[in-house]
This record gives sequence, C-alpha cells and structure tokens, in this order.
Amino acid sequence: MRIALLPGDGIGPEVAAAAREVLRAVAPDIEVTEHPFGGAAILAHGTPLPDKTLAACREADAVLLGAVGLPQFNAAEVRPEQGLMGLRRELDVYANLRPAVGNGMDLLVVRELVGGLYYGARGTRDDGTVFDTLEYHPSQVERIARRGFELARAREGRVSSVDKANVLETSRMWRRVVTEVAADYPDVELEHALVDAVAMFLVQTPDRFDLILTENMFGDILSDEAAGLSGGLGLAASASLGDARPGIFEPVHGSAPDIAGQGIANPAAMLRSAALLLEHGLDRPEPARALERAVDAALASSPTPDLGGSATTDEFVAAVLTELT
Ligand code: NAD
Ligand code: IPM
Ligand code: MN
Repeated sequence: MRIALLPGDGIGPEVAAAAREVLRAVAPDIEVTEHPFGGAAILAHGTPLPDKTLAACREADAVLLGAVGLPQFNAAEVRPEQGLMGLRRELDVYANLRPAVGNGMDLLVVRELVGGLYYGARGTRDDGTVFDTLEYHPSQVERIARRGFELARAREGRVSSVDKANVLETSRMWRRVVTEVAADYPDVELEHALVDAVAMFLVQTPDRFDLILTENMFGDILSDEAAGLSGGLGLAASASLGDARPGIFEPVHGSAPDIAGQGIANPAAMLRSAALLLEHGLDRPEPARALERAVDAALASSPTPDLGGSATTDEFVAAVLTELT
C-alpha cells in the first residue's frame, strides 16, 4: 500500500508531518512518499501541480493532502488553489464526504466536488464584465446523488438535498435528478431544501439534518459552517472519492497563514482525514478506528489553542502516540 503525501503550504506541512508520524505507528506497512504541491510547487517548479506529482498520485493507493494557499499568490495568475482543483478533476473524485462530528452534532455533508461554478467557463468580456459559469450535466448529479443515498443507508436513512431551485436552472435539474434517483432507494427518506434556509436551520437546530447532499459551492460553504458548529476547522476532516482509487483525503481547513510557522496548528482534522483514508481509501477499518479513538483521547487530554487549550502540535501528536501504544 502506498500513500502520496502532499504537504502543501502554511500549516499544511505541519499537520502533514504529524500525520506521517502517526501513520507510521498505526499502519507501519504503508509506504508514504512526499511530493511538491500548491504554492510550494509554484516556487520550486512554476506550477502548483507538477506532472511528477500528478503521476505519483495516480500510482498511489490514496492521496493525503495538507492544505494549499499562500497570501503572496492571492492576486497571481498561477495560484496554489488551481493545483487542488486540477488534482480533484484529474482523479475525478466527485464525492466529497465532510463529516461534522462534535458538540453533540453528527452530520455528513456530501459535496459534489468536480463540477458547478468551480469548473465552468470563466473569463472577462470586452466591456470588462467578469463571469463564472455554473453548469452541471445530469449524469454528474446522478452519480453524486447515488453516492449520497448509498451513504444515507449506512446512517439514519434520510437525505436532505440542498439547492437554490427557486432561482437556478441547474438546481431545478438537480432536484429532478435527485428525485429520480430516490426512486431506487425506497428505504431512504428524501427532502429538498433551499440553501439559504438550510444555512439558518443549521445554526438554529443542527440535528435537524443527518446527511446534506449538495453541489460544489453550496457544499464548500455549508461544510465550513458545519465545521464551525461541531467544534471548528481544527477538527473537520474530509474524504474525496471517485469510482476507483486513489481517493484524496484532506482537512476541510486551509493553510491558516495567521498561525503558520508557530507549531500550534491543531492536527486533529488531518489525523481524522488519515483515518478516513485508512477506512475509505485502503479498506483498513481497524487502524482507522484505533486512530480515531486516539485522536478523541488527545482532544480531551491535550487540546490546542483553537480549542481553548495550550498544547502545541507536537504535544498533541505525542498524546495520540501515547494512546496508540
Ligand atoms: P483557513 O481554513 O486556512 O483558516 C481559517 C481560520 O481557521 C484561521 O483563523 C485559522 O488559523 C483557523 N484554522 C484553520 N485550520 C486550523 C487548524 N488546523 N488549527 C488551528 N486553527 C486552524 O481559511 P482561510 O484563512 O480563509 O484561507 C487561507 C488559505 O487557505 C487561502 O489561500 C485558501 O484558499 C486556502 N484554503 C485551502 C484549502 C485546502 O487546501 N483544502 C481549504 C480552505 C482554504
Ligand atoms: C476546500 C477549499 C477549496 C474549495 C479551495 C481552496 C479551492 O476551500 O477544500 O474547501 O473551495 O474547495
Ligand atoms: Mn472550503
């Protein structure tokens, strides 16, 4: 088994180092190789996703990714985030699972990851108008909907499909296709809801939802909201899956430039992503459970500053390793 590890930028390398150390303890047989990605790769190779990095990801059984993004590239033509979007598209990981677990919450956001506004035509017209296009093909909606219903079966058996069907054509098609797919899952309950109301209900009554199925941009925003409600970005992990390996596993958070380099990043989101990798990416549920339990214990004993504690990243990792042995 081989993992391609892409540390990336900011706190990415800090949480990647944590994951590497913990994986060595929990699954010593797995080979981990590191590859340049994001802003670090732009600086070294002029591109956020070098061909060699992409090739290494394709050959791996799973990809584990820290985070990308450096303030110096915010207004640049070539940006770290393009590497992330390129990698997701190249590996066709259309199903992004973002569990929000904590603070009494247990919600799964299932976000379509390789379509919509992120991948539509964009540009600038002669008159200066700037545009991004939101497009979906029904087949893209069908495959993410099927994944959502399958996942719902293993949970409470209800899907909340979130859209903006009162305004958007793509959302009306989304609603139609999701309703058609639902016919194949009579044991799963389906509700449709509008994204603005869902944003409100999430804050007011978070346990109203068990699984949110939604398009790329809405899922980006709602998953950060869910992360905030369930304990913060330091805890939120994700799995991005296609129809075949490799999947990409990464925290929901970004490169956190405000705390990068201080050794205080919370590695829990990354370690939980590594647990999702073991479970969904490599079919190794036992070390995944052990890792999740160890992270939960470390969260209780050694919380980092984002959780009101004072543990450093290294101290958190030490607590995880103690739990594992
Ligand atoms: P961010 O997630 O990096 O940070 C938001 C806030 O959460 C910051 O205050 C940060 O300190 C805190 N935070 C995030 N992760 C933390 C952790 N593990 N431990 C403790 N605190 C943590 O979002 P942002 O500041 O809006 O974006 C910064 C950069 O990251 C941007 O360039 C953005 O494009 C990029 N980004 C990348 C990814 C990714 O690689 N998947 C995801 C989101 C944002
Ligand atoms: C995320 C990030 C990315 C996204 C950015 C960095 C492209 O915010 O993984 O949630 O919007 O998908
Ligand atoms: Mn995001």
